[in-house]
Amino acid sequence: MRQGAAWFALAAAVPLSAAALPSWEAPPAVQAAARSDYIEHCGGCHGVAGSSAPARVPELRGRVGWFLCTTEGRDYLIRLPNVAHAPIDDPEALAALVNYVVFRLGGESAPAGARAFDGAEVAVLRRSPIVRASLLRERARLVADIRRRCPAAPASLADYSG
Ligand code: HEC
Repeated sequence: MRQGAAWFALAAAVPLSAAALPSWEAPPAVQAAARSDYIEHCGGCHGVAGSSAPARVPELRGRVGWFLCTTEGRDYLIRLPNVAHAPIDDPEALAALVNYVVFRLGGESAPAGARAFDGAEVAVLRRSPIVRASLLRERARLVADIRRRCPAAPASLADYSG
């Protein structure tokens, strides 16, 4: 509801053509906390700006938004072991962190109209983390499906490089 109200305020303030853009609106304090949670819990591996190359850690910058192309891809972002088990108990704070990752670090990659995560969705999804042993297989399947549904998704999504 709170999000709906923010979306309405935004929609009223911008031209109609921008209304379908992926978006995450949150008060500046929430965004700042999400960024600092990201840096503390994720940035060590993924880099402060979401760029980890040449490490064997997937690039987030400019591409992680493509996972929102399918429901399973969306779920994957929360069911990742490092996300589901992140030491952030408050589901709203974890939702804000992932929204920061997807809509800020991911830049333009989130599909038009993509919805931001909220705490209720995150609380449910994080209860069923993907088993690490099947992660790569699962990711390969998700990426193939995403590339079928969103043909603009880059081929590089199939591996970890940018
Ligand atoms: C210890 C290093 C490490 C930490 C900490 C870490 N990650 Fe990851 N992340 C990885 C690796 C490695 C992968 C590849 C899948 C796997 O092995 O878990 C990954 C995969 C991902 C992916 C999927 C990207 C893709 O292209 O498949 C996302 C999104 C992600 N991490 C976000 C986060 C967020 C958000 C946090 C903080 C809550 C975080 N990660 C913490 C190492 C890390």
